[in-house]
Amino acid sequence: MRIATLTSGGDCPGLNAVIRGIVRTANSEFGSTVVGYEDGWVGLLEDRRVQLYDDEFIDRLLLRGGTILGTGRLHPDKFKAGIDQIKANLADAGIDALIPIGGEGTLKGAQWLAQNGIPVVGVPKTIDNDVNGTDFTFGFDTAVAVATDAVDRLHTTAESHNRVMIVEVMGRHVGWIALHAGMAGGAHYTIIPEVPFDIADVCKAMERRFQLGEKYGIIVVAEGALPAEGTMELREGEIDQFGHKTFTGIGQQVADEIHKRLGHDVRTTVLGHIQRGGTPTAFDRVLATRYGVGAVRAVQAGQFGKTVALHGENIELIDLEEAVGHLKKVPEERYRTAQAMFG
Ligand code: F6P
Repeated sequence: MRIATLTSGGDCPGLNAVIRGIVRTANSEFGSTVVGYEDGWVGLLEDRRVQLYDDEFIDRLLLRGGTILGTGRLHPDKFKAGIDQIKANLADAGIDALIPIGGEGTLKGAQWLAQNGIPVVGVPKTIDNDVNGTDFTFGFDTAVAVATDAVDRLHTTAESHNRVMIVEVMGRHVGWIALHAGMAGGAHYTIIPEVPFDIADVCKAMERRFQLGEKYGIIVVAEGALPAEGTMELREGEIDQFGHKTFTGIGQQVADEIHKRLGHDVRTTVLGHIQRGGTPTAFDRVLATRYGVGAVRAVQAGQFGKTVALHGENIELIDLEEAVGHLKKVPEERYRTAQAMFG
Protein backbone atom coordinates (compact mmCIF):
# COMPACT_ATOMS: atom_id res chain seq x y z
CA MET A 1 0.00 0.00 0.00
CA ARG A 2 1.00 3.61 -0.41
CA ILE A 3 -0.14 5.69 2.55
CA ALA A 4 -0.11 9.49 2.82
CA THR A 5 -0.15 11.52 5.99
CA LEU A 6 -0.27 15.21 6.92
CA THR A 7 -0.48 17.42 10.01
CA SER A 8 -3.01 20.24 10.02
CA GLY A 9 -4.19 23.02 12.37
CA GLY A 10 -2.20 24.26 15.36
CA ASP A 11 0.92 22.19 16.04
CA CYS A 12 1.25 20.19 19.21
CA PRO A 13 3.83 18.06 21.01
CA GLY A 14 3.63 14.46 19.77
CA LEU A 15 2.91 15.10 16.08
CA ASN A 16 6.35 13.80 15.12
CA ALA A 17 5.89 10.77 17.34
CA VAL A 18 2.71 9.93 15.39
CA ILE A 19 4.54 10.34 12.07
CA ARG A 20 7.30 8.03 13.37
CA GLY A 21 4.68 5.48 14.46
CA ILE A 22 3.02 5.61 11.05
CA VAL A 23 6.22 5.27 9.01
CA ARG A 24 7.78 2.50 11.08
CA THR A 25 4.59 0.44 11.25
CA ALA A 26 3.78 0.90 7.57
CA ASN A 27 7.32 -0.02 6.45
CA SER A 28 8.18 -2.81 8.83
CA GLU A 29 4.85 -4.43 9.68
CA PHE A 30 3.20 -4.19 6.27
CA GLY A 31 5.89 -3.34 3.69
CA SER A 32 3.88 -0.22 2.80
CA THR A 33 5.38 3.12 1.80
CA VAL A 34 4.55 6.53 3.29
CA VAL A 35 4.35 9.98 1.77
CA GLY A 36 4.00 13.16 3.84
CA TYR A 37 2.19 16.22 2.51
CA GLU A 38 3.64 19.54 3.69
CA ASP A 39 1.75 22.23 5.57
CA GLY A 40 -1.50 20.32 6.07
CA TRP A 41 -4.35 20.55 3.57
CA VAL A 42 -2.49 23.33 1.75
CA GLY A 43 0.30 20.96 0.71
CA LEU A 44 -2.23 18.34 -0.35
CA LEU A 45 -3.96 20.90 -2.58
CA GLU A 46 -0.66 22.15 -3.98
CA ASP A 47 0.76 18.63 -4.29
CA ARG A 48 3.80 19.30 -2.12
CA ARG A 49 4.95 15.96 -0.73
CA VAL A 50 8.01 14.13 0.57
CA GLN A 51 8.77 10.44 0.77
CA LEU A 52 9.26 9.20 4.35
CA TYR A 53 11.42 6.15 5.16
CA ASP A 54 11.97 4.20 8.34
CA ASP A 55 15.49 5.58 8.74
CA GLU A 56 17.56 7.29 11.46
CA PHE A 57 15.87 10.62 10.86
CA ILE A 58 12.41 9.15 11.47
CA ASP A 59 13.64 7.12 14.45
CA ARG A 60 14.86 10.29 16.21
CA LEU A 61 11.53 12.06 15.90
CA LEU A 62 10.10 10.68 19.12
CA LEU A 63 11.43 13.49 21.31
CA ARG A 64 11.03 16.29 18.81
CA GLY A 65 8.26 18.88 19.24
CA GLY A 66 6.42 20.55 16.36
CA THR A 67 5.93 18.71 13.07
CA ILE A 68 8.57 17.91 10.45
CA LEU A 69 5.85 18.18 7.79
CA GLY A 70 4.83 21.70 8.75
CA THR A 71 1.23 22.59 9.35
CA GLY A 72 -1.31 25.08 8.11
CA ARG A 73 -4.91 26.19 8.25
CA LEU A 74 -7.13 26.30 5.18
CA HIS A 75 -10.57 27.91 5.08
CA PRO A 76 -13.22 25.14 4.76
CA ASP A 77 -14.65 26.80 1.62
CA LYS A 78 -11.29 26.71 -0.18
CA PHE A 79 -10.77 23.15 0.99
CA LYS A 80 -14.14 22.00 -0.34
CA ALA A 81 -13.69 23.85 -3.62
CA GLY A 82 -10.42 21.93 -4.10
CA ILE A 83 -11.88 18.44 -3.88
CA ASP A 84 -11.23 17.56 -7.55
CA GLN A 85 -7.65 18.78 -7.29
CA ILE A 86 -7.14 16.76 -4.10
CA LYS A 87 -8.51 13.62 -5.74
CA ALA A 88 -6.27 14.16 -8.78
CA ASN A 89 -3.19 14.74 -6.62
CA LEU A 90 -3.79 11.60 -4.57
CA ALA A 91 -4.37 9.55 -7.73
CA ASP A 92 -1.21 10.93 -9.40
CA ALA A 93 0.86 10.02 -6.35
CA GLY A 94 -0.70 6.53 -6.26
CA ILE A 95 -2.02 7.03 -2.73
CA ASP A 96 -4.27 4.25 -1.40
CA ALA A 97 -5.17 5.88 1.92
CA LEU A 98 -4.72 9.14 3.79
CA ILE A 99 -4.03 9.63 7.52
CA PRO A 100 -4.69 13.29 8.45
CA ILE A 101 -3.53 14.22 11.96
CA GLY A 102 -5.39 17.14 13.46
CA GLY A 103 -8.06 18.58 15.72
CA GLU A 104 -11.78 18.91 15.24
CA GLY A 105 -11.46 21.11 12.13
CA THR A 106 -9.04 18.71 10.46
CA LEU A 107 -11.20 15.72 11.30
CA LYS A 108 -14.18 17.53 9.76
CA GLY A 109 -12.06 17.86 6.62
CA ALA A 110 -11.24 14.16 6.84
CA GLN A 111 -14.94 13.35 7.12
CA TRP A 112 -15.65 15.45 4.02
CA LEU A 113 -12.96 13.55 2.08
CA ALA A 114 -14.39 10.23 3.28
CA GLN A 115 -17.85 11.31 2.11
CA ASN A 116 -16.25 12.01 -1.27
CA GLY A 117 -14.87 8.51 -1.58
CA ILE A 118 -11.32 9.01 -0.29
CA PRO A 119 -10.09 6.26 2.07
CA VAL A 120 -9.25 8.10 5.28
CA VAL A 121 -8.32 7.24 8.88
CA GLY A 122 -7.91 10.23 11.21
CA VAL A 123 -5.67 10.79 14.24
CA PRO A 124 -7.08 13.22 16.84
CA LYS A 125 -4.68 15.92 18.01
CA THR A 126 -4.93 19.05 20.11
CA ILE A 127 -3.48 20.41 23.31
CA ASP A 128 -7.03 21.53 24.14
CA ASN A 129 -8.25 17.91 24.60
CA ASP A 130 -11.60 18.86 23.09
CA VAL A 131 -12.06 16.20 20.38
CA ASN A 132 -15.17 14.19 21.11
CA GLY A 133 -15.14 10.41 21.47
CA THR A 134 -11.61 9.99 22.81
CA ASP A 135 -10.47 10.11 26.42
CA PHE A 136 -7.35 12.14 25.60
CA THR A 137 -5.69 13.78 22.63
CA PHE A 138 -1.88 13.79 22.64
CA GLY A 139 -0.31 17.17 23.42
CA PHE A 140 -2.76 17.84 26.23
CA ASP A 141 -0.61 16.18 28.90
CA THR A 142 2.42 18.21 27.79
CA ALA A 143 0.47 21.48 27.81
CA VAL A 144 -0.85 20.71 31.30
CA ALA A 145 2.69 19.92 32.50
CA VAL A 146 3.98 23.25 31.16
CA ALA A 147 1.07 25.20 32.66
CA THR A 148 1.36 23.38 36.00
CA ASP A 149 5.06 24.17 36.18
CA ALA A 150 4.22 27.84 35.61
CA VAL A 151 1.58 27.83 38.36
CA ASP A 152 4.01 26.06 40.73
CA ARG A 153 6.63 28.73 40.15
CA LEU A 154 4.19 31.59 40.62
CA HIS A 155 3.32 30.47 44.16
CA THR A 156 6.68 31.53 45.61
CA THR A 157 6.94 34.90 43.89
CA ALA A 158 3.27 35.67 44.59
CA GLU A 159 3.76 34.89 48.27
CA SER A 160 6.95 36.94 48.52
CA HIS A 161 5.20 40.01 47.10
CA ASN A 162 1.70 39.54 48.56
CA ARG A 163 0.26 39.49 45.09
CA VAL A 164 -2.63 38.02 43.19
CA MET A 165 -1.24 36.23 40.12
CA ILE A 166 -3.33 35.51 37.04
CA VAL A 167 -2.16 32.76 34.68
CA GLU A 168 -3.84 32.77 31.27
CA VAL A 169 -3.69 29.41 29.51
CA MET A 170 -4.91 28.20 26.11
CA GLY A 171 -8.44 26.98 25.53
CA ARG A 172 -10.76 28.87 23.22
CA HIS A 173 -13.90 26.82 23.70
CA VAL A 174 -12.99 24.41 26.47
CA GLY A 175 -11.19 24.66 29.78
CA TRP A 176 -9.45 21.28 30.12
CA ILE A 177 -5.94 22.77 30.36
CA ALA A 178 -7.09 25.38 32.88
CA LEU A 179 -9.00 22.80 34.92
CA HIS A 180 -6.10 20.35 35.14
CA ALA A 181 -3.28 22.90 35.58
CA GLY A 182 -5.37 24.76 38.17
CA MET A 183 -6.01 21.62 40.17
CA ALA A 184 -2.48 20.21 39.80
CA GLY A 185 -0.87 23.56 40.61
CA GLY A 186 -3.12 24.33 43.57
CA ALA A 187 -4.60 27.48 42.06
CA HIS A 188 -7.10 29.28 44.27
CA TYR A 189 -9.61 29.89 41.48
CA THR A 190 -9.97 28.56 37.94
CA ILE A 191 -12.05 30.15 35.21
CA ILE A 192 -13.11 28.14 32.14
CA PRO A 193 -15.11 28.96 28.99
CA GLU A 194 -17.85 26.45 29.84
CA VAL A 195 -18.88 28.34 33.00
CA PRO A 196 -19.33 32.14 32.65
CA PHE A 197 -17.71 33.70 35.70
CA ASP A 198 -18.82 36.43 38.07
CA ILE A 199 -15.86 38.65 38.93
CA ALA A 200 -17.50 39.39 42.30
CA ASP A 201 -17.15 35.68 43.21
CA VAL A 202 -13.51 35.67 42.12
CA CYS A 203 -12.83 38.75 44.27
CA LYS A 204 -14.68 37.24 47.22
CA ALA A 205 -12.47 34.13 47.04
CA MET A 206 -9.31 36.28 46.99
CA GLU A 207 -10.56 38.52 49.77
CA ARG A 208 -11.34 35.52 51.95
CA ARG A 209 -7.77 34.28 51.53
CA PHE A 210 -6.30 37.61 52.59
CA GLN A 211 -8.69 37.84 55.56
CA LEU A 212 -7.63 34.37 56.71
CA GLY A 213 -4.02 35.50 56.74
CA GLU A 214 -2.92 34.10 53.37
CA LYS A 215 -1.10 36.88 51.59
CA TYR A 216 -1.41 35.81 47.98
CA GLY A 217 -3.71 34.16 45.47
CA ILE A 218 -3.35 32.39 42.13
CA ILE A 219 -6.05 32.35 39.47
CA VAL A 220 -5.89 30.25 36.31
CA VAL A 221 -8.03 31.54 33.46
CA ALA A 222 -8.60 29.96 30.04
CA GLU A 223 -8.14 32.40 27.15
CA GLY A 224 -11.72 31.84 25.96
CA ALA A 225 -13.39 32.46 29.34
CA LEU A 226 -16.29 34.90 29.42
CA PRO A 227 -17.94 36.85 32.25
CA ALA A 228 -21.57 36.12 33.08
CA GLU A 229 -23.83 38.67 31.43
CA GLY A 230 -23.89 42.03 33.13
CA THR A 231 -21.06 41.24 35.59
CA MET A 232 -18.05 42.79 33.88
CA GLU A 233 -17.25 44.74 30.73
CA LEU A 234 -15.02 42.90 28.25
CA ARG A 235 -13.19 44.33 25.23
CA GLU A 236 -14.61 43.04 21.93
CA GLY A 237 -12.32 41.07 19.61
CA GLU A 238 -12.26 41.27 15.82
CA ILE A 239 -13.47 38.38 13.68
CA ASP A 240 -10.59 36.61 11.90
CA GLN A 241 -10.67 34.88 8.49
CA PHE A 242 -11.87 31.62 10.08
CA GLY A 243 -14.78 33.30 11.84
CA HIS A 244 -13.09 33.22 15.27
CA LYS A 245 -13.15 36.24 17.56
CA THR A 246 -9.61 37.36 18.29
CA PHE A 247 -8.71 37.30 21.97
CA THR A 248 -8.43 40.58 23.86
CA GLY A 249 -6.54 39.34 26.90
CA ILE A 250 -9.02 38.04 29.45
CA GLY A 251 -6.21 37.52 31.99
CA GLN A 252 -5.20 41.17 32.09
CA GLN A 253 -8.82 42.31 32.16
CA VAL A 254 -9.53 40.10 35.16
CA ALA A 255 -6.34 41.43 36.78
CA ASP A 256 -7.39 45.05 36.23
CA GLU A 257 -10.81 44.40 37.68
CA ILE A 258 -9.44 42.68 40.80
CA HIS A 259 -7.00 45.53 41.36
CA LYS A 260 -9.80 48.07 40.93
CA ARG A 261 -12.15 46.26 43.34
CA LEU A 262 -9.71 45.03 46.02
CA GLY A 263 -6.69 47.29 45.62
CA HIS A 264 -4.29 44.31 45.71
CA ASP A 265 -1.17 44.18 43.62
CA VAL A 266 -2.03 41.92 40.66
CA ARG A 267 0.22 40.52 37.89
CA THR A 268 -0.64 38.53 34.77
CA THR A 269 1.31 35.78 32.99
CA VAL A 270 0.10 34.73 29.55
CA LEU A 271 1.57 31.33 28.71
CA GLY A 272 0.49 31.29 25.05
CA HIS A 273 2.40 29.11 22.61
CA ILE A 274 4.92 27.95 25.21
CA GLN A 275 2.23 25.35 25.98
CA ARG A 276 2.50 23.98 22.44
CA GLY A 277 6.29 23.94 22.08
CA GLY A 278 9.02 21.50 22.98
CA THR A 279 9.31 17.80 23.61
CA PRO A 280 6.20 15.78 24.54
CA THR A 281 5.81 14.18 27.97
CA ALA A 282 6.22 10.41 28.31
CA PHE A 283 2.41 10.03 28.33
CA ASP A 284 2.08 11.97 25.06
CA ARG A 285 4.94 10.08 23.39
CA VAL A 286 3.25 6.79 24.22
CA LEU A 287 -0.22 7.94 23.18
CA ALA A 288 1.05 9.50 19.93
CA THR A 289 3.02 6.37 19.05
CA ARG A 290 0.02 4.14 19.75
CA TYR A 291 -2.20 6.40 17.60
CA GLY A 292 0.29 6.20 14.70
CA VAL A 293 0.53 2.41 14.90
CA GLY A 294 -3.24 2.10 15.31
CA ALA A 295 -3.98 4.32 12.31
CA VAL A 296 -1.77 2.25 9.99
CA ARG A 297 -3.30 -0.99 11.22
CA ALA A 298 -6.76 0.45 10.59
CA VAL A 299 -5.76 1.50 7.07
CA GLN A 300 -4.35 -1.94 6.32
CA ALA A 301 -7.58 -3.50 7.60
CA GLY A 302 -9.63 -1.22 5.33
CA GLN A 303 -11.40 0.47 8.27
CA PHE A 304 -11.97 3.82 6.57
CA GLY A 305 -14.04 6.85 7.60
CA LYS A 306 -12.83 6.38 11.17
CA THR A 307 -10.41 7.90 13.63
CA VAL A 308 -8.30 6.24 16.29
CA ALA A 309 -9.39 7.04 19.84
CA LEU A 310 -8.30 6.25 23.38
CA HIS A 311 -10.94 4.47 25.46
CA GLY A 312 -9.61 3.63 28.90
CA GLU A 313 -6.47 1.58 28.25
CA ASN A 314 -7.27 0.75 24.65
CA ILE A 315 -6.81 2.35 21.24
CA GLU A 316 -10.06 1.84 19.35
CA LEU A 317 -11.70 3.17 16.19
CA ILE A 318 -14.70 5.49 16.15
CA ASP A 319 -16.61 6.97 13.22
CA LEU A 320 -15.35 10.39 12.14
CA GLU A 321 -18.93 11.54 12.52
CA GLU A 322 -18.77 10.91 16.27
CA ALA A 323 -15.43 12.72 16.61
CA VAL A 324 -16.68 15.91 14.94
CA GLY A 325 -20.29 15.94 16.20
CA HIS A 326 -19.52 18.36 19.01
CA LEU A 327 -16.60 19.47 21.19
CA LYS A 328 -15.78 17.54 24.35
CA LYS A 329 -16.41 20.17 27.01
CA VAL A 330 -15.60 20.08 30.72
CA PRO A 331 -18.67 18.53 32.39
CA GLU A 332 -20.34 20.55 35.14
CA GLU A 333 -19.53 17.91 37.71
CA ARG A 334 -15.79 18.11 36.96
CA TYR A 335 -15.84 21.87 37.46
CA ARG A 336 -17.73 21.44 40.73
CA THR A 337 -14.98 19.11 41.93
CA ALA A 338 -12.36 21.73 41.06
CA GLN A 339 -14.46 24.35 42.88
CA ALA A 340 -14.10 22.36 46.12
CA MET A 341 -10.45 23.48 46.16
CA PHE A 342 -11.05 27.19 45.37
CA GLY A 343 -10.21 29.89 47.88
O1 F6P B 1 -6.45 24.62 19.22
C1 F6P B 1 -5.22 24.70 19.81
C2 F6P B 1 -4.87 26.11 20.13
O2 F6P B 1 -3.61 26.01 20.76
C3 F6P B 1 -5.87 26.87 21.01
O3 F6P B 1 -5.82 26.55 22.36
C4 F6P B 1 -5.47 28.29 20.72
O4 F6P B 1 -6.52 29.19 20.94
C5 F6P B 1 -5.11 28.25 19.26
O5 F6P B 1 -4.70 26.92 18.99
C6 F6P B 1 -4.03 29.23 18.89
O6 F6P B 1 -3.78 29.15 17.54
P1 F6P B 1 -2.68 29.98 16.74
O7 F6P B 1 -1.48 29.10 16.66
O8 F6P B 1 -3.31 30.22 15.43
O9 F6P B 1 -2.39 31.22 17.51
